[in-house]
Amino acid sequence: MTAAASLLVVDIGQLVTGDPRLPAPGVIEDAVLAASADRIVYAGPAAGFGVPFGPETVEVDARGAAVIPGFVDSHTHLAWLGDRSEEYARRADGATYEEVAARGGGIQSTVAATAQGSLEALVDATRERARRMLRLGTTTVEVKSGYGQSHEAELRQLQAARMAGAGPRVPDVVTTYLPLHGAVDADRAEYLEGVLREGLPAAARLARFVDCFCETGAWSVEECERLLSAGRAHGLRPKVHAEQRSRSGGAALAARVGAVSADHLEHATDDDLRALAAAGVTGVLLPGAALVLGGPPPPGRRLLEAGATIALATDCNPGTCWCESMPLMVSLGVATAGLTPAQALLAATAGGAAALGLTDRGRLLPGLRCDALVLNSRNWLDVGYHLGANPVAQVIVGGRVISAW
Ligand code: NIG
Ligand code: FE
Repeated sequence: MTAAASLLVVDIGQLVTGDPRLPAPGVIEDAVLAASADRIVYAGPAAGFGVPFGPETVEVDARGAAVIPGFVDSHTHLAWLGDRSEEYARRADGATYEEVAARGGGIQSTVAATAQGSLEALVDATRERARRMLRLGTTTVEVKSGYGQSHEAELRQLQAARMAGAGPRVPDVVTTYLPLHGAVDADRAEYLEGVLREGLPAAARLARFVDCFCETGAWSVEECERLLSAGRAHGLRPKVHAEQRSRSGGAALAARVGAVSADHLEHATDDDLRALAAAGVTGVLLPGAALVLGGPPPPGRRLLEAGATIALATDCNPGTCWCESMPLMVSLGVATAGLTPAQALLAATAGGAAALGLTDRGRLLPGLRCDALVLNSRNWLDVGYHLGANPVAQVIVGGRVISAW
């Protein structure tokens, strides 16, 4: 017998399910969504609805608005302290990202600012950004370390991310250990040995993934490969920042080690993209960072033509893209990465889940987690079409309506 619904969303004009059996993005008109605890028990036409419910059932009247899956932001660097607005202004005045980094800015300046603050300050700053994300419809967010660059500081970043995620009114947080990010000042061979020896076993208790910035001037293919292979032995699934500033071999590495995702990819060749598709690696597009840095556009359409699964994410970080908005990434995915609105919406939801290896969310189908957004529009297309707006009226996380902000 079907469990009684604890949540009912009625009078949905367009329910975007992401059901792959329907034309993308899987829209059902005049629909109902029902959950029992955190799981969806019905997502379909109002006419076919037959789930029992009672006085305890929370009812949301969508009043003809569209309902879509919650966004899964699969690539962020949310746990940081400090301010790099000066750097932003210097770049706008003609300096390159590499030039400001060489003159005291860049990743190292955030490492220093983050080290100066308390754990409490880091948790608060991370939580504040995560709350802004939730208001904009992000129900799951990945958070990387990478602004620690010493054993203790990297672990502290992971702890801060987990603590921020434990609070109320925040998205579900998934953590990634990113020990190879900016080049370190200390002896790099010694630093890498320390990461392999002590960092990975400790991080395995705090994170699900291990990541690296595979880039000329950051970390080499060989160094990254040692990290990712050793990480696997500790149960950490690999991710790669690949081909962002130059073609450095990160995509081939991601394919070789069977990474869950390869992220950025602006400088990837079609052969690189085909290798990712063949290896089942999700390509994560970060159109905000690409726009701010002014390089080639993210290869959205090219990845799809190569047969790869794609995700859209914010890359929220203080250097290349301070942005919490997944709706804006949907807009930019269409405007700059060659995606259709349906492809972009699916990349921001089901694609994000794929980039995090999560099979329990990202679509509105029975049995999956009930992470859903009631829009303030009757038309799901408005998510990307209305640039820079917040299309979200109500957020549902794990079958619960977020009622107080
Ligand atoms: O994803 N690519 C490396 N890391 C960030 C930038 C980090 C920073 O500048 O602080 C990115 O773009
Ligand atoms: Fe990044």
